[in-house]
Amino acid sequence: MMHTQIDEIRREAAAFPLNSSANLEDFRLRYLSKKGVLNGLFDAFRALPGDEKRTVGPAINQLKTELEEKWEAAKKSLDALATAGRGPGTTSRQKEIDEEDLSLPAAPIPRGGLHPISLVRRDVVNFFATLGFTLSEGMEMVDDWHNFGALNFAEDHPAREMQDTFFVQTNPDILLRTHTSSVQVKEMQLGNLPIRTLSPGRVYRNETVSARSHMQFHQIEGLYIDEQVSFGDLRLTLNLFAEHFFGSEAKIRFRPSYFPFTEPSAEMDVSCFLCKQEGCAVCKQTGWVEILGCGMVDPQVLEHCGIDSQRYSGYAFGMGIERLTMLRYQIRDIRHFFENDLQFLRQFSGE
Ligand code: PHE
Repeated sequence: MMHTQIDEIRREAAAFPLNSSANLEDFRLRYLSKKGVLNGLFDAFRALPGDEKRTVGPAINQLKTELEEKWEAAKKSLDALATAGRGPGTTSRQKEIDEEDLSLPAAPIPRGGLHPISLVRRDVVNFFATLGFTLSEGMEMVDDWHNFGALNFAEDHPAREMQDTFFVQTNPDILLRTHTSSVQVKEMQLGNLPIRTLSPGRVYRNETVSARSHMQFHQIEGLYIDEQVSFGDLRLTLNLFAEHFFGSEAKIRFRPSYFPFTEPSAEMDVSCFLCKQEGCAVCKQTGWVEILGCGMVDPQVLEHCGIDSQRYSGYAFGMGIERLTMLRYQIRDIRHFFENDLQFLRQFSGE
């Protein structure tokens, strides 16, 4: 009679789920606690006649050992799981494990992305690297000579007013560079000829901030100085760049222009890649988009920087990275680049 009861309890306990701390506690209360099933058995055992006691006693003890071992083993493996997660048996972690599906893939970790200005700068720098251009950078705060003097902006030259400048109040000889041409002066003074270098960087102009202009922006300037560099070399180089950046169908054209440090000087337009020259808002119905300024380095500038202008000639070009980026992604307001609005920036991070 008692033996069948013991067997039944054994069968029932074997099917008891022991995969969470809650189950574990239920098991303990049901079988092992003071008022549990085992103690109930021992109570009934005490009322048995002596000869039955002899066989039932060891059977109950055997069941007790089995149930205690089962409980211990389950507790051990649950504790091990918790330790793997967060340290020894933390109850809150234990709870999480109960509710978590451990076979699911991990939650994604949010990643940062590159700013659109950085994306375009990298693209341009990498392209010119394939033509042998090195990278050179300079300081954002420079003296008048590097930003203006060496580049033929004489003291009283009206061209200085083309670029509204931020000066340091206590020393007006120091200013925030208005263009990356200041880096070229430094490179030419170093005099490691021939020079074939690209200088990206931030520049500053005292302009009213609007959708189309900002008091800080980025330029990329190219400089090539060697024996017998011609305008034809400049044209070829910029043509290749336009095809790379705007597509193989891109055409370029030059318009005469003026910069104090280049002679002759030109502005370069690229055929409108949006409307294929049918006429649209971006090209203002002209079929052409203005991209950059360029020209042959003025021999006087070479001499200022200690380069023999009889022997060497060179070209330079400079473009605004914001402008290229706005064209590439059709961004209508330059202020987006400096506001760090994540909704704007995430569009470029590939998330
Ligand atoms: N530095 C000029 C500017 O900022 C651009 C330029 C660079 C023009 C090189 C000609 C050659 O406007």
